[in-house]
Amino acid sequence: MTLAADRLRAAAGGDIHTAVVLGTGLASVAGDGDVVIPYADLPGFPQAGVSGHEGALVLRRDARGCVAFLLGRAHYYEHGDARAMAGALEALAACGLRTLVLTCASGGVRAHLAPGELVLFSDHINFSGANPLIGVSGDARFVPMVDAYDPDLRARMHRAAAAARIDLHEGVYMWFSGPSFETPAEVRMAGLLGADLVGMSTVPEAILARHLGLRVVAVSLVTNHAAGVSGGAPHHAETKRVATAGAARMRALVAAFLQQDEA
Ligand code: HPA
Repeated sequence: MTLAADRLRAAAGGDIHTAVVLGTGLASVAGDGDVVIPYADLPGFPQAGVSGHEGALVLRRDARGCVAFLLGRAHYYEHGDARAMAGALEALAACGLRTLVLTCASGGVRAHLAPGELVLFSDHINFSGANPLIGVSGDARFVPMVDAYDPDLRARMHRAAAAARIDLHEGVYMWFSGPSFETPAEVRMAGLLGADLVGMSTVPEAILARHLGLRVVAVSLVTNHAAGVSGGAPHHAETKRVATAGAARMRALVAAFLQQDEA
């Protein structure tokens, strides 16, 4: 067990069954918790620095144990490290984690995926050229990525959306390294290749989580039409503003998901 896992387990007083990673502008999804631990006190957690990302873990106790909300993530584009979230996910896995909920902001490639829409990942395309399992040894690194986004958890997320009366689309997310936004030509390519969303996160975490044997589900809040789809150029300030405005709906969706029976 790592030091971070020891500290988390002590604070949780038992298993952490579910973790929710909150992306840009989405920290308020966590709401009030029972314990707040700064990432600085959790060795191996990101010591983040992107505006719109916080840097603390909130624990909330429930009937099944504990849910951990991660306020902020580290991105590949910060230091070129696709394993930026490995320490955090490994510590959580050592605390009994079974279910990982990933959230993020994204650009909508399809015209109907407009700012404010929520989209459940059906699958992803790793277009970054990076992979967090490069350098890992052992046959377990050859992780199958069929149903990477767990079908039972996806069904549970749809039930949650129906219960909370929230429209939830499904789509394929294409991971670009960032931090520059895509060109309009890249976005046209993404659409032709089957992507519905473009973004700069989430995929390395999903890969790491599958390697750890966790079940993964991911929901994105569309903060802008991707470059060239409509309107002007995307901006980080707009991403943060739209994500912050949409966080209440993400919060309602995540709350309903946590209330649904485990699939
Ligand atoms: N591209 C990449 N990442 C993003 C975008 C985008 O248009 N919007 C929010 N995150």
